[in-house]
Amino acid sequence: MTTPDPSPDFLNTTRASYDAMAPAYVEFVRGELAAKPLERALLSTFAELAAAGGGGLPVADVGCGTGRVTAHLHELGLGLDVFGIDLALQMVAVAREEHPGLRFEEGSMLGLGLPDASLGGLLAWYSTIHVPDEELPRAFAEFHRVLAPGAHVQLGFQVGDEAQRLTEAWGMEISLDFHRRQPEKIAGLLREAGLDVRSVVWRERETDGPFPERAPQGFVLARRPSAV
Ligand SMILES: C[S@@+](CC[C@H](N)C(=O)[O-])C[C@H]1O[C@@H](n2cnc3c(N)ncnc32)[C@H](O)[C@@H]1O
Repeated sequence: MTTPDPSPDFLNTTRASYDAMAPAYVEFVRGELAAKPLERALLSTFAELAAAGGGGLPVADVGCGTGRVTAHLHELGLGLDVFGIDLALQMVAVAREEHPGLRFEEGSMLGLGLPDASLGGLLAWYSTIHVPDEELPRAFAEFHRVLAPGAHVQLGFQVGDEAQRLTEAWGMEISLDFHRRQPEKIAGLLREAGLDVRSVVWRERETDGPFPERAPQGFVLARRPSAV
């Protein structure tokens, strides 16, 4: 029922990098959503769709990091049973400490270990950015498998055409690949995985303010077709 996760090298380096960065990362992103009205609007839309069409099933924030977006979805007050999953145990530990009332688990989007059709929504907010092109179809097949018919998935990511490797952060040696992608490319792969694309959003990068960006941002909303 679940896809075996062979833990290839990119998973190990991604995990190790976020394990090392977790204490600094939580401060780095603190307050970011408050400065991003479009993102909050997209997350509210996703949450409403999950509340209305998720059949009361749990909603997973996959690649939840420090749990800030998991908590945001919870705090919207729509009654979502939202929980977080992340590859890096130290990020999970920070998320648990920051949001003691919420549930966070260690896991990979390439093999979520959840039953088929068990989610009323799935958020992948800047987490597929660490999955190489050749593995994305596996991740999207996994999203399709765990979503209930009619349930939505929302992705957020940096827009571009190239991958970049970060080897240093906050004075620490890391090895972390960032894959920028065109929204239409993500939409096409989601369609190939059997999902219906509902919305493709591109926004220009912000160059000023407290969280300046190096790239435009992309957001794709899709849903598993309802059973006929
Ligand atoms: C850029 S951070 C974003 C965290 C969070 N979504 C946020 O917006 O604050 C990327 C997160 O994705 C996680 N991640 C990367 N690859 C993953 C995978 N294959 N499965 C689950 N989580 C993954 C990382 O450990 C990291 O916490």
